[in-house]
Amino acid sequence: MTTIGIIGSGAMGAGIAQVAATAGHNVILFDTNQIALDKAKNNLETTLKKLVEKQKLTAQNSKKITDHIQFASELNECKNCELIIEAIVENLDVKQKLFSDLENIVSQDCILASNTSSLSIASIASACKNADRVIGIHFFNPAPIMPLVEIIPAITTDSIVTEHSKKLIDSWGKQTVLTKDTPGFIVNRVARSFYGESIRIYEEGLADFATIDWAMKTVGGFKMGPFELMDFIGNDINFKVTESVWTQFFYEPRFKPSLTQKRLYEAKWFGRKSGKGYYNYADGVLLPTPKEDDELAKIIFYRVIAMLINEAIDSLYLKLASKEDLDLAMTKGVNYPKGLLKWADELGLQIILDILDNLYAIYAEDRYRPCILLKTMAAKGETFY
Ligand SMILES: NC(=O)c1ccc[n+]([C@@H]2O[C@H](COP(=O)([O-])OP(=O)(O)OC[C@H]3O[C@@H](n4cnc5c(N)ncnc54)[C@H](O)[C@@H]3O)[C@@H](O)[C@H]2O)c1
Repeated sequence: MTTIGIIGSGAMGAGIAQVAATAGHNVILFDTNQIALDKAKNNLETTLKKLVEKQKLTAQNSKKITDHIQFASELNECKNCELIIEAIVENLDVKQKLFSDLENIVSQDCILASNTSSLSIASIASACKNADRVIGIHFFNPAPIMPLVEIIPAITTDSIVTEHSKKLIDSWGKQTVLTKDTPGFIVNRVARSFYGESIRIYEEGLADFATIDWAMKTVGGFKMGPFELMDFIGNDINFKVTESVWTQFFYEPRFKPSLTQKRLYEAKWFGRKSGKGYYNYADGVLLPTPKEDDELAKIIFYRVIAMLINEAIDSLYLKLASKEDLDLAMTKGVNYPKGLLKWADELGLQIILDILDNLYAIYAEDRYRPCILLKTMAAKGETFY
């Protein structure tokens, strides 16, 4: 493939355009908003300049990358593309209209991909006459830095389209994982309990935000605690993803959003970008100190990790992806210190099962029910690796 079209020049589109141009493709970057296009162009120039200054890129290669990107304000300019990756607003109607318009412009063989985080690929593809050319290619933010890309064929996608897409993105130096067209794909599904169970622990008064963050970093080795991470991602985005995964899973209790985060969202306490979230980021305000209680830290860590591992095992049981891809997704997509299935082996499946059984016995809530695969493997003393 030589020419790649990227639709939407926001945070994700601009990043993906940089990745594709760096891999040597001609890139057509289209946006309906001229201001967004200008911003993407300026940001790219600043990013490349910094890379040259840090000697991570030669001036010659920097010029090659910029020369490879054409900023387009007419959709028709994408007509010769062999692959188009859409990264526009997360709205099904708008995406469907775009995919239908694109079909009237591009050749029969052009692959149409969506970078959607939460919409079903099948629903986007249904807008096309030729739905078998539509696939999900899900990058993580920032696309030039994050190594993981989820490849998501819909039930309608031709297997050749999946194969070509995977090979191409691999050739861009990314680590691809193949997954099913289910809500949140791998990462945004499996990671939900990192946030949800931590908020639940806070709501029950077991510990405050700083103590939970400290526990997950100290005992678990996570680079950021759940509350720091939610403030970093933005409570608007994080809340909306949780709500979307929960509703799309027909209100599965494991994914149930919390009122605590909903109120932050409503108050526009989005986190770092708004100056306030779970923590106050105003100048001169000291961040709260955790209660450094080792026993409490273990209780917090084991409860959250048991929920995360249960989700990863359920995803394996439901054939969302291979065990290797499930582990790769969490280490490369959200920087977890270990893959959750490898972690399960290390901690012991029986211990994880005992924690969940105990939580289930105490709360009698469905969210704590252990996955059947965890139960059967623990009974047989099996491990994943
Ligand atoms: N931001 C993230 O962390 C992240 C990560 C992975 C995937 N995604 C997904 O990527 C997509 C884009 O997200 P983003 O954060 O880059 O959004 P963004 O708001 O930064 O950019 C979206 C761009 O799309 C343009 N646009 C809107 N409608 C358009 C249309 N019909 N045709 C052409 N351009 C149009 C807008 O002008 C804007 O420049 C979404 O589907 C999102 O769910 C986002």
